[in-house]
Amino acid sequence: MTLTPQWLDELRSRITLSALIGRTVKVTRAGREFKACCPFHNEKTPSFTINDEKGFYHCFGCSAHGDAIRWMTDQRGLSFMDAIKELAAEAGMEVPAADPRAAQRAEKANNLYDVMTAAQDWFVQQLQGVEGAAARSYLQKRGFSAKTIQEFGFGLAPDNRTALKSALQKFGIPMLVEAGLLIAVDDKEPYDRFRGRLMIPIRDPRGRVIAFGGRILGDGEPKYLNSPDTPLFDKGRTLYNLDKCSPASRKTGRVIVVEGYMDVIAIAQAGFADAVAPLGTALTEQQIQMLWRMTEKPLLCFDGDSAGQKAAMRAALRALPLLKPGHSLQFVTLPEGQDPDDLVKKSGPKAFAELLDRSEPLVERLWRSEVAAGPLDTPEDRAGLKQRLGGHMANIADAEIRRHYADAFRERFDTLFAPKARAPFQPSIPTRKGKARDWRAPQILPPGAETKSFNAKNSDFLVQGVLGALLRNPVLIQHHQEALSDFVPADPNHAKLLGAILDASFAKESLDTEGLITILDEKLYNVAISLLHSNGKVFAFNRGDVGVGSDGLSNASKELGEAIRLMKQRPALEEALERATLRASSEMTDETFAEQQRLRAEKKAFDDRIIAFFRRDADGL
Ligand code: UTP
Ligand code: MN
Repeated sequence: MTLTPQWLDELRSRITLSALIGRTVKVTRAGREFKACCPFHNEKTPSFTINDEKGFYHCFGCSAHGDAIRWMTDQRGLSFMDAIKELAAEAGMEVPAADPRAAQRAEKANNLYDVMTAAQDWFVQQLQGVEGAAARSYLQKRGFSAKTIQEFGFGLAPDNRTALKSALQKFGIPMLVEAGLLIAVDDKEPYDRFRGRLMIPIRDPRGRVIAFGGRILGDGEPKYLNSPDTPLFDKGRTLYNLDKCSPASRKTGRVIVVEGYMDVIAIAQAGFADAVAPLGTALTEQQIQMLWRMTEKPLLCFDGDSAGQKAAMRAALRALPLLKPGHSLQFVTLPEGQDPDDLVKKSGPKAFAELLDRSEPLVERLWRSEVAAGPLDTPEDRAGLKQRLGGHMANIADAEIRRHYADAFRERFDTLFAPKARAPFQPSIPTRKGKARDWRAPQILPPGAETKSFNAKNSDFLVQGVLGALLRNPVLIQHHQEALSDFVPADPNHAKLLGAILDASFAKESLDTEGLITILDEKLYNVAISLLHSNGKVFAFNRGDVGVGSDGLSNASKELGEAIRLMKQRPALEEALERATLRASSEMTDETFAEQQRLRAEKKAFDDRIIAFFRRDADGL
């Protein structure tokens, strides 16, 4: 088995070292790095530092030093191959199968770097030679300084089908084809890919040339031509200028993402060295992860025109499933028709810096673009907006972040459509059979059969009361959405109904009982109807009283909140008691018995709370 340096680089880049080490020792964030008490020597104050960006750890106390692989071998005591296998499984990578040709491939990759270096040197020479006059004046016209030209390695591919081919012939034609420098079509003689173009070398994170971009001199199509994907170059996993951006961003704490590599170079010259660009495609998942290794919130710059704004949305949507606590994207909108290059030239670096300062967070960007997507005059329009926002939320994989997005969207939504105080819904609605039914919340009943029938074993009663309340007063759903979202009632019909209620409350703008139950399927509809008619009415929150108190929450809503809390805790308690009872009966020791008694007492206290709670309600508080 031969592991190529590229494969190992990829493996390292996919592992977040602090998380890996954090499984063994407690790590804490310290600025851009993480600190821990060194696991390799005894210490009380942490001198063990982890740098995720560079992918290594270092102990200033004992000089222990290494990367993820080294950690697995030195700290976890695995063999090299076992370390590789475990890390690969975690990174979702296949360990290359034993293959004698892999060694050859590794060798060839090394040679490909040599080919690219030779090509780069040759392009630079061409730019400096007699043939380079037009290209040099083009660069000058665009305002690139000699220093910039040298730093970014501008070169020239002469307008000739065989110039590079003969200059680099010592590498052999197959190698030049594999490096993407020659085009080989069918039986035709291979010829130079880049002709009559200004050449920009594309470098990997270690600064090695892995591909080229070529800009046409003057007008013509295509304006830019990039190297094809090769064993060295994977467009979707490369960010232009990452090697220079990464150290610069450590100083600024910022990463700027622009659309073109000319923009990167132009703004670098204007003093913004912490910039990268994708290579003519929308940001990929891998590129977003690479950005997050440098900074928590990269600044994405897009043109203010519609194409740029579409691209911004594409990036936003791509990021949603990847979001993790603390990590997001910030959006910078440029004046229409100007890219960063134009902007720094026309308005100066200060204007650009000011724009960067006014970046907007991802949540705001999504909201703004959905609000701008169409009219919001009718209830249907608004429901549509809510549905689109709900769709975005559903794409967020991290539950905690998703909840915060729900709050943020709801807040904005409510502000935009400042809801008028709405009277509780009290209609009589035809059933599906056509007969009118009235489920007006009944006036408070005296504590009677229902209270007494509360069976400590039947926590369903509480669930029914809560579901009934939500159906009667859908306006309450929003208040308790978060608490309800991770509760699954034992009865599958109740579980489905609760799910449908929660979905509906996010997707619909103005939710009332009618609107709520008409979206249910036949079966859930019947469940809902029977809940609306049955027990649970002893609760204050079921009296249809949703008047808002001085703190913005009605008493009914507050009580419902408490009921939900009790309802959620009860099944766990019940389960624990059942387990303890079982154990106590099979292993009759003092210990198991005491545990069972303890849980019984706890449950009794719990049930007393519930009973007191709705007796209080029934007494009219
Ligand atoms: P732009 O067309 O916005 O170019 O393409 P630009 O950066 O403003 O370039 P100048 O200022 O006209 O020289 C942005 C990026 O899209 C890709 C390239 O990666 C480029 O950097 N692109 C563009 C292509 O790959 N092919 C093209 O034909 C055009
Ligand atoms: Mn431009």
